[in-house]
Amino acid sequence: MATHKLLLLPGDGIGPEIAGALKKVIAWFDARGGGGVYSIEEDVVGGAAYDRHGVAISDAAMALAQESDAVLFGAVGGPKWASVPYEVRPEAGLLRLRKDLGLFANLRPAICYPALAESSSLKREIVEGLDILIVRELTGGVYFGEPKEIIDLGNGQKRGIDTQIYDTYEIERIARVAFDLARTRSNKVASAEKHNVMKSGVLWKEVVTALHGRDYTDVKLEHILADNCAMQLVRAPKQFDVIVCDNLFGDILSDVAAMLTGSLGMLPSAALGAADPMTGRRKSMYEPVHGSAPDIAGTGAANPIAMIASFAMALRYSLGQVAEADLLEAAIAAALATGVRTRDIGGGEASVGTEVMTDAILAALERLSA
Ligand code: IPM
Ligand code: MG
Repeated sequence: MATHKLLLLPGDGIGPEIAGALKKVIAWFDARGGGGVYSIEEDVVGGAAYDRHGVAISDAAMALAQESDAVLFGAVGGPKWASVPYEVRPEAGLLRLRKDLGLFANLRPAICYPALAESSSLKREIVEGLDILIVRELTGGVYFGEPKEIIDLGNGQKRGIDTQIYDTYEIERIARVAFDLARTRSNKVASAEKHNVMKSGVLWKEVVTALHGRDYTDVKLEHILADNCAMQLVRAPKQFDVIVCDNLFGDILSDVAAMLTGSLGMLPSAALGAADPMTGRRKSMYEPVHGSAPDIAGTGAANPIAMIASFAMALRYSLGQVAEADLLEAAIAAALATGVRTRDIGGGEASVGTEVMTDAILAALERLSA
């Protein structure tokens, strides 16, 4: 029987609470059997790692990540670490994981669950049935480009520099992921960049166009300026199927897309590396799109759905358990359909906490698999 090696990195803030919820879900699949055995290692990342080791992620945790079938990441950061040195700030742990594992492809689906169409800040008819996928480049661009520094100009002025860099191969491999995924969906890709002001945008458009002409003429391709894309996302989001973009635009557009669905607390993500030519295996990490929410940390109020839905993506993309992924996603929808709500998705006075929401999903798993 297959053993799935998972590395759980709960992180900071609500991270440990939603990781606790996830452990119950994994235990459910483990007890049910049939899908293999889950072996879970756990380590610290972010501020928690800084407190213990003085770095945002230890080399030992990185080694565990390299060996795992999937890394399950909670969230990092918080006011407690606001003034630690830049190199060891909590986010540096996340960025090192992405970079060192080569996780260039970030899949951020934004799905509006029918039960939640009312909790979006947009009108029901605009978001109902929404199903878009943002494919964000994750290991390049301005996040990692050098030079990246603040220099002293010596005249009382300083200069902050970040560098946006993209090479052909980086654009091509992320566009390929977007086109391949579009074929499994509505077969449409919107490529967002700023070729009107950025050289990297000019190249981005050129490379995507060439790849499309070469290998993907069956997929409908549209080029869109990133600012217009942001506007269209709030005007008429259902026009989109797959959106592919660079690291920074992807960061911003995915927050916009996430909020269309009612809450940032709902959305999972997957970060994937290149397929190993021998085994076909991809390094991978799964994490909620939301952050560590220090304001509600420790209160038991966090919505665990984004974390649990991230595990569903792990089942689908890393563990070869597509039926289990479908089951878990259906259980989340079924739990919501019973009316149970955390505060972030409009629970109001009747809001439940992490534990009740998790139990509702476990109960739905029982019902749906009976
Ligand atoms: C995200 C986050 C991160 C990013 C931060 C925490 C570094 O906003 O995953 O979207 O900017 O990529
Ligand atoms: Mg972000």
